[in-house]
Amino acid sequence: MTDRFLRACRRQPVDRTPLWIMRQAGRYLPEYRALRQRVDFLTLCKTPELAVEASLQPLRRFPLDASIIFSDILLPLEALGVRMTFNPGPKLAEPLRTRAQVEALSRRSAADTVPYVAEAVGLLRRELDGRTPVIGFCGAPFTLAAYLVQGEGKEGFGAVKTMLYREPATLEHLLERLAAAMIDYLTLQIAAGAQAVQIFDSWAGLLSTDAYERFALRWVRAIVDGVRDLDVPVIYFVNGGPHLIGQASNAGADVLGLCWRLPLDVAAAIVGPDVALQGNLDPHALFADPAEVRRQADAVLRRVERRPGHIMNLGHGILPDTPIASVEALVEAVHATAATPPAALPMPS
Ligand code: CP3
Repeated sequence: MTDRFLRACRRQPVDRTPLWIMRQAGRYLPEYRALRQRVDFLTLCKTPELAVEASLQPLRRFPLDASIIFSDILLPLEALGVRMTFNPGPKLAEPLRTRAQVEALSRRSAADTVPYVAEAVGLLRRELDGRTPVIGFCGAPFTLAAYLVQGEGKEGFGAVKTMLYREPATLEHLLERLAAAMIDYLTLQIAAGAQAVQIFDSWAGLLSTDAYERFALRWVRAIVDGVRDLDVPVIYFVNGGPHLIGQASNAGADVLGLCWRLPLDVAAAIVGPDVALQGNLDPHALFADPAEVRRQADAVLRRVERRPGHIMNLGHGILPDTPIASVEALVEAVHATAATPPAALPMPS
């Protein structure tokens, strides 16, 4: 069993820096594209055997140190009665714009609405048989609200920011509902066998520090508190928010996942020693030639060489056109960090 990922989450010593890749299962893999030729994205997510196949694909190619369950951050919103399609990004049947709509959201359990996620986690654990830890995940409330209120992905997510200033109480009501639903959803995944969980706050960077505290961080904290007793490491990934990392490091999570914008040593000085760091190679660096990818990855690794608790990753999800050879180069750079044996002790004279 390679437990270096779980050990690094807890800032314990490791033989080398662990590596996994956000969106490691996905369109940059020809075998994923082949799978998608046969089934649409939602069917893939909702069929445990197929979701597990998608999760396993990157692990067959690369010796990664963690696997992640194949699903999407929007899917558990079906527990609130939200209906959606993907092409390839999410589109909601109806954007959520009014207090009445927020109040009309249903309160079904994740176990009732997305049982296939729990099944997939259990199946993936059995397939991996202890060889690689399994990460469960959810979206952070503000990021989920950004999609819910907008109705789809859109640059700037103006609709949720408008609601934030025009009807803050409605947005807070929505965030509260989302936090509760995500506690229920992560609890389901952990009960099914997830050994760590990641909360994706992909759009937190759209907020000022004041707005972030009230409309994002507070609800992430509620989720972290809600799963604390389940005793698995929690990773909180904040995208696009170098101005937020001091606050984000107080979410209560074990690991802060960083986007690519700020070097890790600068981030580490802000965050302090009590939180592990994950990241943060720019996904576009993987479009360089393999030798340059190795240099770029090595530069990231060297920024936190002596700091306990670093998990190597990209600073955002891997891009669909990424060459396989670049991922191999990234793996090589990380494997080169294997601790060199301690120098021989000086002989007593
Ligand atoms: O290995 C993995 O990480 C796969 C599981 C996974 C997916 N989505 C599969 C997916 C995870 C962890 C996510 C998270 C997710 N989904 C986030 C947070 C991470 C981030 O990138 O910021 C967000 C914002 C979403 C919403 C979403 N889903 C978008 C914007 C899109 C469009 C295209 C894209 O890839 O960005 C999706 C669709 C989606 N989710 C695909 C996959 C593999 C592509 C669908 C396809 O096969 O056609």
